[in-house]
Amino acid sequence: MNTQNLTDTAKLLVADDKGLLAMDESHPTCNKRFAKLGIPQTVEARRSYRELIVTTPGLGECISGAILYDETIRQQKKDGTTFVKVLTDAGIIPGIKVDAGAKDLAAHPGEKITEGLDGLRDRLAEYFQLGARFAKWRAVLVIGNDIPSCGCIEANAHALARYAALCQEAGLVPVVEPEVLMDGDHSLERCRQVTEEVLRTVFTHLNSQRVRLEGMILKPNMVLPGLACPTQASVDEVADTTVKCLLRTVPATVPGITFLSGGQSAEMASVRLNAMNVRFKSRLPWALSFSFARAIQQPALEIWQGKETNVKAAQQALLHRARCNRAARRGEYTAAMEKTLA
Ligand code: 13P
Repeated sequence: MNTQNLTDTAKLLVADDKGLLAMDESHPTCNKRFAKLGIPQTVEARRSYRELIVTTPGLGECISGAILYDETIRQQKKDGTTFVKVLTDAGIIPGIKVDAGAKDLAAHPGEKITEGLDGLRDRLAEYFQLGARFAKWRAVLVIGNDIPSCGCIEANAHALARYAALCQEAGLVPVVEPEVLMDGDHSLERCRQVTEEVLRTVFTHLNSQRVRLEGMILKPNMVLPGLACPTQASVDEVADTTVKCLLRTVPATVPGITFLSGGQSAEMASVRLNAMNVRFKSRLPWALSFSFARAIQQPALEIWQGKETNVKAAQQALLHRARCNRAARRGEYTAAMEKTLA
């Protein structure tokens, strides 16, 4: 294992106030989002949409790495250039989602376990050959009555750690994503407790599987009250609670924390990331960055609507969100930025 390469890549992924763009939706997820907007759910529509994203002029100013999906890492632009080459030429590191999705966890009603460890070593070797230099695995934790259970947290943390060790062996930086969902009516405090327990367990397993923490990225949820919670939290409360939770659980050797957006609006995700960096950036051991899918892509997808004539406007919207989030990393994002498209 070349630890130096892993460390260098992990650092690059959070360098220069840039962040990650998640464009790794599985077919069902991508098709669901297309269906809502009346876009055909075909391989060609998905390919065109991904071409729109990777060819956005200037994207490399704000995006350090893009997370692809198995279908996408093998695809090309209309002119035959592979997406991997387009990204690499733009200074964006290609990454790849390698989990096989969250399935029902046996004997644990309402809880999920992420699958995909079988055959992973061989798949990782192939993805490295195809040009990927980092990977992603998402675990899903649901908050409800008496859940998440200890059994569910342990099983998911163990799988994340097995995945991360295999990635490092293959020369890929693991992005470790334990997502505590926003669904439910739980309070901010309950989300903090669950996120803290999950992260503590994840790092226990990462250590027992001998994962080099300097060669990985953590991709957590922000600490938020449930969407249906009657008491919603202020931006500063979210920023303070999230950072406090991370300081208690994430070792200083981890180079970067890249949040998922989890269904927050695009603007809210930028506002909250900005508040964390305004209030804490100079005092934190790790970079606080982003790895958003919906919070970067959604406005662009809504403009595109599957039509060639909308490609330019959609790319502008995508670049705009990427710029807003880069500004949020610097603590320089303002509401006024939303009035001026990129
Ligand atoms: P969202 O930012 O839309 O939550 O997606 C992030 C992601 O990669 C989910 O696995």
